[in-house]
Amino acid sequence: MSWQRVCAVDDVDEEELHEFEIGDITILVANAGGEFFAYPPFCPHQETPLSLGMIDGDTLTCIKHLWQWNMKTGDMRENAESPLLLYEVKVEDGAVLVNLEKELRYDYQ
Ligand code: FES
Repeated sequence: MSWQRVCAVDDVDEEELHEFEIGDITILVANAGGEFFAYPPFCPHQETPLSLGMIDGDTLTCIKHLWQWNMKTGDMRENAESPLLLYEVKVEDGAVLVNLEKELRYDYQ
């Protein structure tokens, strides 16, 4: 398994987060100003669903204790004590694809 189609770009509106199932893997897709990112579905702090989070520019905020991350790199911002892991993502022919072959990391960019 390598690059897998997760959804259509139209499935996730700007500044929204949406979970998708790829086999037995749940992937959170984010649309930040028309740029797409993909993450594991739960906050690294106490596993709150990040689909409930908020996008502001390139910052993702978990609603429970307001940890924040740089959406492009997973780097910690306000309050966060752990980086946010992310998948490698590309957009092709109107679809969002995620590389499931690579290990999750927080510095793909
Ligand atoms: S559970 Fe997300 S910041 Fe605490």
